[in-house]
Amino acid sequence: MTQREQRKDDHIRLALNHPEQLSDFNHIQLIHHSIPSVNQTDINLQTMISNLPLEFPLYINAMTGGSKWAGEINQKLAVISRETNIAMAVGSMHAALKNSALIPTYQVIRTINPSGTVFANIGADVPLDFAQRAIEMIDADALQIHLNAPQEVVMPEGGRDFSDWLTNIEAINEKVSVPVIAKEVGFGMSRETLQQLTSIGIEGADISGRGGTNFVYIENERRPQKDQSYLIGWGQTTPVSLLESLPFQRDIDILASGGIQTPLDAIKSLVMGAKAVGLSRAVLKEVELNGVEAAIQFIELFKAHMKDIALILGAKDIIALKQVPYILSPELESWQRQRNERERKR
Ligand SMILES: Cc1cc2nc3c(=O)[nH]c(=O)nc-3n(C[C@H](O)[C@H](O)[C@H](O)COP(=O)(O)O)c2cc1C
Repeated sequence: MTQREQRKDDHIRLALNHPEQLSDFNHIQLIHHSIPSVNQTDINLQTMISNLPLEFPLYINAMTGGSKWAGEINQKLAVISRETNIAMAVGSMHAALKNSALIPTYQVIRTINPSGTVFANIGADVPLDFAQRAIEMIDADALQIHLNAPQEVVMPEGGRDFSDWLTNIEAINEKVSVPVIAKEVGFGMSRETLQQLTSIGIEGADISGRGGTNFVYIENERRPQKDQSYLIGWGQTTPVSLLESLPFQRDIDILASGGIQTPLDAIKSLVMGAKAVGLSRAVLKEVELNGVEAAIQFIELFKAHMKDIALILGAKDIIALKQVPYILSPELESWQRQRNERERKR
């Protein structure tokens, strides 16, 4: 087994044994009104990411492929995504781009779900031809480019040269035939990052915030001395990242992931302007601990509960959800005020 295959298996194993993290969703309160004026049968949460229609604003986010175990998980995730009719991403495809024997661990998702919506996934440091091959390999509908600097730094064998990321993402975005989604891996995004991404014409950003899977925790567990746990709180939570994204939501489609635990977290993300919401570890745990059937039930229930919440909010589609008023906790309000004040002073 190569180091890369071993690393993927480490990530899966550590994600399955990961301590629960705190997000900030309890710092957002949606305002209840007593007369919702909507019939449940009229609720339709269809959405669009760039030019890509999604039947429901939920997707299984990037995790696996690249080892035997990861291929088996991709196969199960593909069944789940087909049966629940939600989109799915594969994990980083570098393994298959470097070793063709691992291609089937990704392609399996197309075999199982030929007409599903699927996202390819690469890092920001790979050349254009890797990006094109990754898209072709699974006939992808969109390309996620992951941004994972803190993970690389804590990863014992991680990279240290991030100097070309932005120009490389721009070059890939100009040439590939599908929408590009710049994607964090659980550290959230800032206004500054979103400004950079919009300035080079990126159409989608998955702000994947802190509060769920924590790759400082995971990589630190892989370090012999386990000496970087002090970085575990690094990054912006998903709600904070959504606040950061507010000025950019006209220019770039925002996807929310990272620590989405309940259907209420997902609805709060849509209220704060996300076009769709991604689940990773929650689905991984469900499928690995309880099986494919249980994971399908989990997602179907999640979808039904999201619709129930939309109903009590009186919101029949995602445009109406975005109009729902909410109140921030003093902590989040302070974050927003300080960011606005400092921006004004600059
Ligand atoms: C086992 C595992 C492997 C992951 N591998 C990748 C990856 O290869 N590429 C990527 O962009 N994100 C990867 N992620 C990050 C997720 O896509 C997501 O951004 C992050 O886990 C936060 O979502 P969560 O809290 O719902 O797990 C991985 C997550 C897990 C749990």
